[in-house]
Amino acid sequence: MTTKNPLLWRYATKLFDPDAKVSPEDLQYLVDSLVYSPSSFGLQPWHFLVVSDPHLKAKLKPISWNQPQITDCSHLFVLCARTSMDAAYIERHAAHIAESRSMTSSKTDAYTQMMISNVLGKSEDQRADWMQRQVYIALGFLLSACMHKGIDSCPMEGFDKDKYDEILGLKEQSLTAVVACPVGYRSKSDSAAALKKVRWNESDIVEHL
Ligand SMILES: Cc1cc2nc3c(=O)[nH]c(=O)nc-3n(C[C@H](O)[C@H](O)[C@H](O)COP(=O)(O)O)c2cc1C
Repeated sequence: MTTKNPLLWRYATKLFDPDAKVSPEDLQYLVDSLVYSPSSFGLQPWHFLVVSDPHLKAKLKPISWNQPQITDCSHLFVLCARTSMDAAYIERHAAHIAESRSMTSSKTDAYTQMMISNVLGKSEDQRADWMQRQVYIALGFLLSACMHKGIDSCPMEGFDKDKYDEILGLKEQSLTAVVACPVGYRSKSDSAAALKKVRWNESDIVEHL
């Protein structure tokens, strides 16, 4: 990291150095950032793929607007959302809470019912949308974790989600691809690294009340 402010150092990397690989320790930190991301009710309606296989990356590139980050990155994260959530899933989560915190399940009963009525009270579309929003929180955690470790990243929606679902066999697992995030190290020839940030003025978007 060359500048003092990591917020300005991070940018959506357009060209990765294909030879620079993220170490297993750092990769584990990035994976941890996903595992420990917060989610509504802690329901974690997600699944994460970490692609390093060059053959699979090569298959994904043409269905990702041919963006070079897909093949040149060290690892490609594909952040997926569940496509369904039923009472059984929520009860399994409640049992997990009780077990992890050594509580009797009667202690979590009211909370379980509240979660079930909230989640199942949404329409199918609202629920799908809500689950995908949780995945974006995980994306934020991943991007921040990269920044903390001096690892470059590029959040990406520029890909054909249906084709990702097909190639990665996601539909059969009741999952769908939401957003991708190649990680690795910037190429010296990535001119985007030097571009000035384009942001609204703080005074236009932040109000202190
Ligand atoms: C959800 C999301 C999807 C994005 N999709 C792409 C993408 O497909 N390809 C790409 O090069 N950049 C993509 N970007 C990067 C943005 O264009 C970039 O973050 C924005 O222009 C601000 O620039 P900066 O991140 O370098 O500060 C995406 C960013 C977000 C948050």
